[in-house]
Amino acid sequence: MSVQAKGVTSKLKKTEGDPDVAAAVRKWKSKRGSLIMILHEIQNSRGYVPRDVAIYLSRELGVPLARIYEALTFYHYFKLQPPGKAVISVCTGTACYLKGSQALVEEFSRETGAAVGASTGDKMFHLQCVRCVGCCGLAPVAIVNGKTYGRLTPPDVKKIVHEWREHFAEKP
Ligand code: FES
Repeated sequence: MSVQAKGVTSKLKKTEGDPDVAAAVRKWKSKRGSLIMILHEIQNSRGYVPRDVAIYLSRELGVPLARIYEALTFYHYFKLQPPGKAVISVCTGTACYLKGSQALVEEFSRETGAAVGASTGDKMFHLQCVRCVGCCGLAPVAIVNGKTYGRLTPPDVKKIVHEWREHFAEKP
């Protein structure tokens, strides 16, 4: 297997393990208009629709990849590139809200300097609130670039932001 093919395969494996992608597919797969609804959920949770997710959806839904990109490029709402290096999605669905997600949103905003729905000036962080990402048992939840953090408290936020700063310092 080529290095490139290995890279795609490992990204697809990672995509299959992403709770937000898997939850969106489970929720909408058998319904009409499922593709657009799933793309909306991915856009909401990630801030954009990554290529490996589009390939995964093509396979899971049996929809040609070209048709997925037709939809992605037709609607201005969808983004193909991340709005920040790290897209922080804080779930404000009911279960997370009841367990204190609002305090997490404020803490993420304070730690990164990004307002909700906006990116930092250096485009390192983008902060957004999303609806239920399908893992209420872990509430309150935040997802950063597809990595899920559960049962969060405000003091955890500082560590997460630090972790991602370090990550980008090592792999700019
Ligand atoms: S409400 Fe946050 S994961 Fe369901």
